[in-house]
Amino acid sequence: MKVGILTGGGDCPGLNPAIRGVVYRGMDFGFEFVGIEEGWRGLVKGIYRPLGLSDVEEIIYQGGTMLGSSRTNPFKKGGEKDLEAVLSNIKEAKFDAIVALGGEDTLGVAAKLYSQYGVPTVGVPKTMDNDLSGTDFTFGFDTAAAVGLDAIDRLRDTARSHRRVMVLEVMGRHAGWVAWYVGVAGGADWVTLPEEPLDVDAMVAHLNAVRARGKKYGLVVCSEGTELPALSGEEKAVDDFGHVKLSDRSVGEFVASTITEKTGWESRHAVVGHVHRGGAPTLFDRVLGMRVGIKAAELVRDKQFGQMAALVGTEVKGVDIVGATSVLKVVPPQLVELMKTTFK
Ligand code: F6P
Repeated sequence: MKVGILTGGGDCPGLNPAIRGVVYRGMDFGFEFVGIEEGWRGLVKGIYRPLGLSDVEEIIYQGGTMLGSSRTNPFKKGGEKDLEAVLSNIKEAKFDAIVALGGEDTLGVAAKLYSQYGVPTVGVPKTMDNDLSGTDFTFGFDTAAAVGLDAIDRLRDTARSHRRVMVLEVMGRHAGWVAWYVGVAGGADWVTLPEEPLDVDAMVAHLNAVRARGKKYGLVVCSEGTELPALSGEEKAVDDFGHVKLSDRSVGEFVASTITEKTGWESRHAVVGHVHRGGAPTLFDRVLGMRVGIKAAELVRDKQFGQMAALVGTEVKGVDIVGATSVLKVVPPQLVELMKTTFK
């Protein structure tokens, strides 16, 4: 069997271990692997590289993706020519299966290629946002959250020294998983999530109470997708997340300046940004990456196309890609409430 492997969307630690897992297990079945570079763009343009044992042997500890990535989506409006190219290149290269490693967008393409054109695809879920349904965790999340935790621990030192409130903005797009974990594990005094609009009054009242009980510093974690209140007199805009925000300020910057203004407590902010996505994958992400990669090769062997290798409890199994990509997994209300019990 000739199997093409690609990685699409934002990179994250764990992609290389996952590629290694697919190739290692596929070798047991005699598969021939071809690396498709730069995600779906590589299939549009026919950018390939050989992928054998010696190519993947050493990559288990490396961040990023050895295959490169892109956000090309041949099903996006105006992508008809790209889609034609993808379909004819798959035929020309004689791929018997495509293993796509990606998030909602990349796997959505794999699902449509399978359901609408019968292309034999198998998915491997990845995203630092941890917002894919059908799987309990995605690799990339543990490493990204660990980077955020390291940042909040460092900010605690300077917050305590300067008697300030330090605000950390973390990534996560439409879901607050990274902020939730970093906030709870970092002992934050307040956390803002995309799952509920920012309640400025509640945050200010709580920070005032924290200060009144004698604590000399504060820590706040903000998810980048938090919906900000629209303020009169400020230019309003809708951000990438469809949320109303102040056009020229990040969530972290807005929250820090609001805290200073409304509590009189000096505040500063820092943004983790793409630092989340770099560096060596954690132990958890390496093992999860290898496990879902191995399962993907087994799904190809069993011709279980249209499926994605998912972590369900402690087991890795095939689940329907369409189901997994049709609804985003956000932080449920009971976990939001649990998080709030940690603010004292
Ligand atoms: O989806 C992963 C993610 O890192 C989000 O958390 C973030 O909003 C986005 O990608 C950033 O995308 P880009 O790398 O295109 O700036």
